[in-house]
Amino acid sequence: MARRQPRVVAVGDAIVDLVTPPLPPIPPGDFQGHVPGVDALPGGNATNFALAIASLGARTSFVGAIGVDPNGAVLRDAYRRHGVRAILRVDPRRPTGATMALTWSAGGRALITALGANASLVLRDVPSRLLEGSDHLHRSGFWWTQRLIGRPTSLLLARARRRGLTTSLDVSTDPHGWPEDRIAAVRACLPNVTTFFGSEVEVCAVAGRSSPIEAAEHLRSLGPEEVVVHQADRGATVVHRSGRSTSAAFSVPIDNPTGCGDVFNAAYVYARLGGADLPDALRFGNAAAALHLRDRRRPYPSDAAVRRLARTSTRP
Ligand SMILES: Nc1ncnc2c1ncn2[C@@H]1O[C@H](COP(=O)(O)OP(=O)(O)OP(=O)(O)O)[C@@H](O)[C@H]1O
Ligand SMILES: [Mg+2]
Repeated sequence: MARRQPRVVAVGDAIVDLVTPPLPPIPPGDFQGHVPGVDALPGGNATNFALAIASLGARTSFVGAIGVDPNGAVLRDAYRRHGVRAILRVDPRRPTGATMALTWSAGGRALITALGANASLVLRDVPSRLLEGSDHLHRSGFWWTQRLIGRPTSLLLARARRRGLTTSLDVSTDPHGWPEDRIAAVRACLPNVTTFFGSEVEVCAVAGRSSPIEAAEHLRSLGPEEVVVHQADRGATVVHRSGRSTSAAFSVPIDNPTGCGDVFNAAYVYARLGGADLPDALRFGNAAAALHLRDRRRPYPSDAAVRRLARTSTRP
């Protein structure tokens, strides 16, 4: 979709996901299960975003923090293989961040994260020169990069906007359950955000509203040009100054439910940077997320693969 390769910077979490194949429901109490294998996959919202948008064709830089351990090597290798320029703070005292990701065959998952070295990432780890000549800054892994929560993220986004970049923010679910001060930390960033992404639960929590569309409208009034709501197997909706658009999800088997939101975000941003209108960008995002969802061996689809699926019907 892009006329020239867009230049994108992602700032946020570097995490290794330990992922099981989708499991049947687990009864309460003691349980002994077995799986053919547990995969150690690159994860973390910002890492997923960077790997996904690089695979689509963007020239991508990632800024994050890792430890000195085998999981750190897994991530370095993933950035290198996907052509992502990784600018990494290396913390010798903390392990690389890790998430246990139990996924269920009926959809959904339980994600348990130890943030590790992500705790040491600070604003000065983002080189100012990195923003020069870039088109877009994406910020995610908000809660896991705890020294960037609130004001530092707001300053970073403002710096990017002043240099003419568009920006996006996806804070994901607050592991502390959305206390007021944490909601305020998200809202403080909104005046400097072009595109705010969130699931229905997340936009409702940040906006303090019970209807996701009303929540998105309200959040837009706090700064962002557009608010994009992830709606799982129903697709996605964008609320923009010019109106609202919804696009249905593609029906695919569920193999890899972790990271769909990040891959969606990468594809949506990539499409918008290439000049796509709202319905086309949503459709491109839904198609990319569906390809991620159906095949954990190829989690980051190419531009050509996404376009192919986007040309097909969303009806099963
Ligand atoms: N069951 C599904 N079938 C088809 N597409 C799906 C399904 N679940 C998710 N998607 C796609 O992935 C996108 C993002 O997923 P979801 O709505 O679950 O966001 P999320 O809760 O933010 O996810 P994440 O935690 O991965 O960030 C959806 O907008 C849709 O395009
Ligand atoms: Mg999400």
